[in-house]
Amino acid sequence: MCGIVGYIGSKDTMPILLDSLKKLEYRGYDSSGMAFLDHEAHLLVRKAKGKICNLEELFRAQPLPYTRVGISHTRWATHGFPSDINAHPHIDGKNSIAVVHNGIIENYKELRDFLKKKGCKFVSATDSEVIPHLIAHFYKGDLFSAVKQALQKLIGTFALGVISRDHPGMLIAARVGSPLIIGIGEKENFIASDVPAILDFTRRVIYLKDSEIAVLTKDKVDLYTFEGKKVTPHIDTVSFSVTTARKEGYPHFMIKEIHEQSSVLEQMLALRLKNKKLVLEGLKLSDAFLKNVRKVSIVACGTAYHAGLVGKYIIESLGRLSVEIETSSEFRYRNPIIDKHTLVLAVSQSGETADTLAAVREAKAKGAKVIAICNVVGSSLAREADGILYTYAGQEIGVASTKAYTAQLMMFYLLALKLATVRKSITPKASKELMDQLLRVPALYKEVLKDIHKIQKIAEANSHFGCFLFLGRHVNYPSALEGALKLKEISYIPAEGYAAGEMKHGPIALIDEYRAVVCINPQSHVYDKMSSNMQEIRARKGNVIAIATRGDHEIKSNADYVIDIPKVADILSPLLVALPLQLLAYYIAVKRGCDVDQPRNLAKSVTVE
Ligand code: F6R
Repeated sequence: MCGIVGYIGSKDTMPILLDSLKKLEYRGYDSSGMAFLDHEAHLLVRKAKGKICNLEELFRAQPLPYTRVGISHTRWATHGFPSDINAHPHIDGKNSIAVVHNGIIENYKELRDFLKKKGCKFVSATDSEVIPHLIAHFYKGDLFSAVKQALQKLIGTFALGVISRDHPGMLIAARVGSPLIIGIGEKENFIASDVPAILDFTRRVIYLKDSEIAVLTKDKVDLYTFEGKKVTPHIDTVSFSVTTARKEGYPHFMIKEIHEQSSVLEQMLALRLKNKKLVLEGLKLSDAFLKNVRKVSIVACGTAYHAGLVGKYIIESLGRLSVEIETSSEFRYRNPIIDKHTLVLAVSQSGETADTLAAVREAKAKGAKVIAICNVVGSSLAREADGILYTYAGQEIGVASTKAYTAQLMMFYLLALKLATVRKSITPKASKELMDQLLRVPALYKEVLKDIHKIQKIAEANSHFGCFLFLGRHVNYPSALEGALKLKEISYIPAEGYAAGEMKHGPIALIDEYRAVVCINPQSHVYDKMSSNMQEIRARKGNVIAIATRGDHEIKSNADYVIDIPKVADILSPLLVALPLQLLAYYIAVKRGCDVDQPRNLAKSVTVE
């Protein structure tokens, strides 16, 4: 994963890199570092383990001279644990060439052995360190040529930034697989892993393509293929803006984002259900195509995958269309059976998840049409898909996805309605009723939030449990998976989600008085089945926290704690169930003193396999 920023120009480099790098912290935050060339072309390298604020602290303690070129990196460890030594930039043996790398060098072991035999000494445990040594190995006075030769030897994914003491007026960048953009300024140029990182400085960008090298000076940018053929750059002017999110009085971004969900959904509905008419701008597929689609295939990872699982139930139920779903990392290597009659839905908050991007490329290569459901405007996924349905949930800073998830769910209801309408599997009356119910959801969120203190108390009362199970049936089976994921990622408590009917096939062995079991059981056609499962847990002394429909008094006899949600149609319940699940996870993690916005080992955007 990791994030990269580079600068070449006339301004002081460090403050520019620091400002931009902080905007990439969502890509990793276990360590960070920068390399600069000063006016005497000395290579200055600074690194710090931990978040970028630690690096900032280092600059305060050891101020740098004014520099006009530099590269920087925020890391999410793949090879080698987080430490100053494993942090980027990495340098060659002569302290001459510095490299920042996002991606994985798969053949690093062979390259390392080869370079060791040539006398190179390695100091880190990273795959990335081979790159500066390899460039140095090929270097005979021409940096571009040395980088080009080194690139021929690298196998894997990478976005690179390279500077050299011998070429203080030059910054070289290259990519395969990992994203990299070039920012064009006035007598200054930039490289970055994404556009928002440099939007404060320029709106003119080049999206570097796979197997392209960029040579930047302060006055110009030249592009080449890896073979050295010159390429004419295409400069885009970015029209979107990114506002810097603030906590606005909330203790964490996560709880702020949980609260925002009502207005996110309200705005989404205002945009997409204008006068009860579906407006799916960006879909770019004709009704004729949608009518004749033979199969829907959903690809996504993590929380977005759980939204996709709910989407499967919704599309199958409303659109009467067969839906497959798979995590992107499995889909991409499975040789999936899809063709031009398949509609592939790629779901991603960031639009930068490497596995999902690879799955999209696989689907497109097989002739399928790909529609992205994505939050980040202008992301790689948005650019690569055939159509894009933006969720417009706003910037999500908390690493644990909350508002992006519920916005994805809402988009699935709207898309399913569209498919059902085109395919005539829903009557106009039922369609209108569903729209009316959807339009009521934002207000219902506010109702659930009225119980926030009660949910907080329930969370705190159960925060000591060392293991949680989350159970649900039918459309809330994915809710159970999502509830478990939310809890484990921010509290580090082992938590598993199951389809409640599967309990008796194994997981029930886990139940005793030391387990907490969250049972998602709103009124629905599987209510009685789920109630039986709850009794089975109580019979084995499990502690039950139920999520149930307001007014359900019967449930109290099967549960230690009950969290109410307002009554909605069965199929809409995942939208409402999400909120107490998020709050339970949040308050348990806070009670346990965890870093909820930036949990250990995670990153907001997973840009490596
Ligand atoms: C969990 C979470 C992750 C992401 C996953 C996919 O709270 O946020 O599981 O959902 O990494 O990320 P996107 O949606 O950006 O593709």
